[in-house]
Amino acid sequence: MNNKVTIFDTTLRDGEQSPGASLNVFEKVEIARQMEKLRVDVIEAGFPVSSPAQFEAVQRIAGEIDIVIAGLARTKEIDIKSAYEALREAKRFRIHAFLCTSDIHILGKFGDDRYGKNLKEKRRTILKMACDSVAYAKTFTKDVEFSAEDAGRTDIGYLAEVIEATIAAGATTVNIPDTTGYTFPKEFGARIAELRQRVKNIDKAIISVHCHDDLGLAVANSLSGVENGARQVECTINGIGERAGNASLEEIVMALKVRKDICEYYTDINSEEIYNTSKMVSSFTGMIVQPNKAIVGENAFAHESGIHQDGMLKNRQTYEIMTPESVGVNKTKIILGRHSGRHGLKSRLYELGYKLNESELQSIYEKFLELADKKKEVFDDDLRVLMGDQTLDIKKERYELDYIQVTMGTNSIPTATVKIKAGEDFIQESATGDGAVDACFNAIERALNLKPSLESYNVRSVTSGRQAMGEVIVRIRTNDKSFTGRRIATDVIEASAKAYIQALNQQQSYLESKGNDETLKHSLSDVLK
Ligand code: KIV
Ligand code: ZN
Repeated sequence: MNNKVTIFDTTLRDGEQSPGASLNVFEKVEIARQMEKLRVDVIEAGFPVSSPAQFEAVQRIAGEIDIVIAGLARTKEIDIKSAYEALREAKRFRIHAFLCTSDIHILGKFGDDRYGKNLKEKRRTILKMACDSVAYAKTFTKDVEFSAEDAGRTDIGYLAEVIEATIAAGATTVNIPDTTGYTFPKEFGARIAELRQRVKNIDKAIISVHCHDDLGLAVANSLSGVENGARQVECTINGIGERAGNASLEEIVMALKVRKDICEYYTDINSEEIYNTSKMVSSFTGMIVQPNKAIVGENAFAHESGIHQDGMLKNRQTYEIMTPESVGVNKTKIILGRHSGRHGLKSRLYELGYKLNESELQSIYEKFLELADKKKEVFDDDLRVLMGDQTLDIKKERYELDYIQVTMGTNSIPTATVKIKAGEDFIQESATGDGAVDACFNAIERALNLKPSLESYNVRSVTSGRQAMGEVIVRIRTNDKSFTGRRIATDVIEASAKAYIQALNQQQSYLESKGNDETLKHSLSDVLK
């Protein structure tokens, strides 16, 4: 058996299902370009039928990126057709159909009698739906993946039956997801080994694993899957994903690389691009990477105690099992300033993973000069921030902050006045609040006549120095869905107002598309039920 492990990155699909982590089309394309530099084997670009925006993102990525692009589909014909329509321009593409196989899911989601009167009949229906979908997808492409959702909790005999039948129907990759992150590594590995024993035609397909992190075991389970015969791992950058997330790409890749003394499996990932990719995903999704996160956290290569520092000075290997350079940390120390030219900026951005056309470069260069005037030195993180903001400007938003004024002091009531551009109109309102930010939010709500529930508000400094940029992440919720706004500025009050308006814009466009389009009556997570 080949020892190469295919890396199937699902940051843009499962990763984007993280609560609040929605990405716009521009951001998705930018991340996909970075994935190309990272050299992943497959990018799951989205779930085309679930929304026009998802469809467009998959289509744009398929038209531009020269690696295998996958699109997710339920076993319904409408989903598979939509996946094909979105993917058809790709040089290489895969249709990924999924259907649940565990009794809990079958009884929970297919309780209706038309799927069978009892579990036995329902299982038969599911098996047929799975095979029909694979056969239908096969009419569009040779590369078809089938996922047995909740395989981790599926009766092993039935799972083997489904896998065998879907391979016979034409699946070239069979995915065994631990959808609920329930299994233990030994148990999950044994499941893969048993499938290899029981499924007669298993050699005709690649076994894939897709593990969630509900018990913090996603990476361990994925590696156990590989040791037992899986040759594709589905994972995400920074481990983002539904609920507690997915197995993290960087941890799997570096585990295989650092411990090649004990395991003979390898990936084609260009590990020096890991850090850039992690930073890009974190900045676009607004999902902060915890400082102690393995491989990409800010502390992953920091040595604090005297004993450790002393050891490191004598021999780095005392406390370092991989070098920061091997994952792209501190590769270069170039700092730009107000005298840097467009060319210098363009090549630094390219090294950070951003590929810009001339007009994008011009617009970012103007912002760069503005920032360089305020800050003497512009660091890589400042550039990432500028790029993050740039993506927000691409699409004209429904509401934009035109003007803000806040007065506050130890003996006065904080008061904010905002002027918001809404299409051709301007709306101005003032309000007071418990503090400056509260006053701003109250003024915005009054101006737009909206009152969402604020789920979280976070502010932090994202670059260094006195003129550091402050990042504000605001999350609001309406019924079943949360929306995130993220803005960065040297003034945190302005960033707060803009982030809040951005979250409201997202909420409004979601509600609008939900009202307009029948397929959007369900949010993505509803569809996955
Ligand atoms: O977790 C899961 O089961 C999934 C499938 C759609 C592959 O994400
Ligand atoms: Zn998943």
